[in-house]
Amino acid sequence: MPDSSKRYGDTGRLPAASGLPPPSSAELTHSETLVRLIREEVKACSGSVDFARYMELALYAPGLGYYRGGAQKFGTAGDFVTAGELSPLFARCLARQCREILNYLDKGDVMEVGAGSGVLAVETLRALEALGSLPERYLILELSAELQQRQRTLIARELPHLVERMHWLESLPDDPLTGVIFANELLDAMPVHRFRVSERGIEQMHVAWEGDHFVWCARSADDIVRQRVEALALATPYISEINLQAEAWVRSMAAHLGQGVLLLIDYGFPRAEYYHPQRDEGTLMCHYRHRAHDNPLILTGLQDITAHVDFTAIAEASAETALSVLGYTSQAAFLLGNGLDEFARASDPTALPAHMDLARQINTLTSPAEMGELYKVIALGRGIDTPLQGFTLQDRRGRL
Ligand SMILES: C[S@@+](CC[C@H](N)C(=O)[O-])C[C@H]1O[C@@H](n2cnc3c(N)ncnc32)[C@H](O)[C@@H]1O
Repeated sequence: MPDSSKRYGDTGRLPAASGLPPPSSAELTHSETLVRLIREEVKACSGSVDFARYMELALYAPGLGYYRGGAQKFGTAGDFVTAGELSPLFARCLARQCREILNYLDKGDVMEVGAGSGVLAVETLRALEALGSLPERYLILELSAELQQRQRTLIARELPHLVERMHWLESLPDDPLTGVIFANELLDAMPVHRFRVSERGIEQMHVAWEGDHFVWCARSADDIVRQRVEALALATPYISEINLQAEAWVRSMAAHLGQGVLLLIDYGFPRAEYYHPQRDEGTLMCHYRHRAHDNPLILTGLQDITAHVDFTAIAEASAETALSVLGYTSQAAFLLGNGLDEFARASDPTALPAHMDLARQINTLTSPAEMGELYKVIALGRGIDTPLQGFTLQDRRGRL
């Protein structure tokens, strides 16, 4: 979850005065193994790898990357908290949106992509069951075998009677899906290309090894990155990111959606805000034990690396694959459109600790100073000819 950022220069190590908590010796050993692997690739690639490749290995190298190693990651004992971890109200509102879509379709499946700890799946299933709207199947597509195992264990413990409906997929199903596909904080975790526009023109940022640490270096940009950045007509100097993988992912999901809705929740902006002249250092952000900073070249494999989402690019990718944008709004408006205020009203103010706790959760989910405004929800659909309740309070499609 992005908040403050602090500059640590370009070193690959954790500087002594960084203010970040030091990793344990076991974590350092883990990180060193991954660093060795990346260095081998750097060497094999004439001295540098594109940042997107570095980010892919740092997050997803089998057994070693941040999401594929054994680190805690989620929740108070980890590095960051997502909305579903923060409060079950998020899942309850999401479930209401799913119910509306499943009712419209008459029947269907729910597929969650990138389910993390599995907490959001548990709470969404609980809420759907309470609404009498369980999907025929609840599918999970998860890249990390380690997280997949955690999800299986959690669901077997919390919802043993629903295990039969659960299916973990290794790849997208062959048959087109009818129902809802959703992903919370998935797109921000996909490897991005980093570029720089300066008096030297458009360059792509690479990662090299110098002495005992990773460093940034600029290389000539690939054609696709150059073309995309040229179209942005940015003032110089400017550094930012471009998430081609997220666009490809939307296209491949669209190809597998027969009838239904692809619902994506993440932090980001429409293109005009994303590449705003004042956002000239990009949106790259790292999270380590609840501290946010902007140096992805340290703590390799131990910290999360993310970039905000360009929702205009997501809408454009969906249009290429004949999905319609059914709605685009802030997380706050989406949750309120799905009845968040009803949960607040149902809370008993005389049960003070629980009431205060609920008020705190609602504030974090909806306040513009917390997640309410930075996080957005976009609904992309096929064969859905009805307004969705999550976008009735406010629909910002016109800004994309
Ligand atoms: C930031 S976490 C979000 C977890 C969860 N959605 C939540 O809200 O707590 C990103 C998740 O997406 C998974 N992931 C990343 N890329 C993926 C992909 N291409 N397909 C499936 N899962 C992916 C990661 O392994 C991780 O579980």
